[in-house]
Amino acid sequence: MTAEPKPTLPGDAGPESDVAAMIRVDHAGEYGAVRIYDGQLAVIGRGRVRDEIRRMAEQEQRHLAAFDELVRARQVRPTLLQPLWHVAGFALGAATALLGERAAMACTVAVEEVIDAHYRDQAERLGQADPALRETLESFRADELRHRDAALEHGAAETPGYELISAAIKAGSRLAIWLSTRL
Ligand SMILES: [Fe+2]
Ligand SMILES: [Fe+2]
Repeated sequence: MTAEPKPTLPGDAGPESDVAAMIRVDHAGEYGAVRIYDGQLAVIGRGRVRDEIRRMAEQEQRHLAAFDELVRARQVRPTLLQPLWHVAGFALGAATALLGERAAMACTVAVEEVIDAHYRDQAERLGQADPALRETLESFRADELRHRDAALEHGAAETPGYELISAAIKAGSRLAIWLSTRL
């Protein structure tokens, strides 16, 4: 007797859809990163911190371009939540920048710590299944860790209320990842 295939719901992970879901959520995440820096750059005035944000933003543009290409080449449906990340990313960036330059950097540290764990987890799950994608993830993860380190060098951890800001942004980032994987 052969087992009936289990009825699946949108968002249930199968072996095929797993890679598609990874590309979808990473595409969403890099889009969100670009929008966070758009928001910060709209607020932060000229100076060292702005220059640093510009450098990080340029790398996020590159990450986004790579996932734009992956979405296209592998025919992955982008997240339905892109309009939300368009607004929420910008708002997060602008809000943290309004709190000050160190808070803007604290935002980067929080987001990059979540993304580091996220990319590491994805690379592990891929194993040897998709070497090209895995290499992309590992290379972007290294960039994200450099962003975190740069943000710490700019005094992120000395932000008043750092722990609270960090915890809130991490919770939001994890929720965004959870949603963008499924929707
Ligand atoms: Fe990125
Ligand atoms: Fe980054």
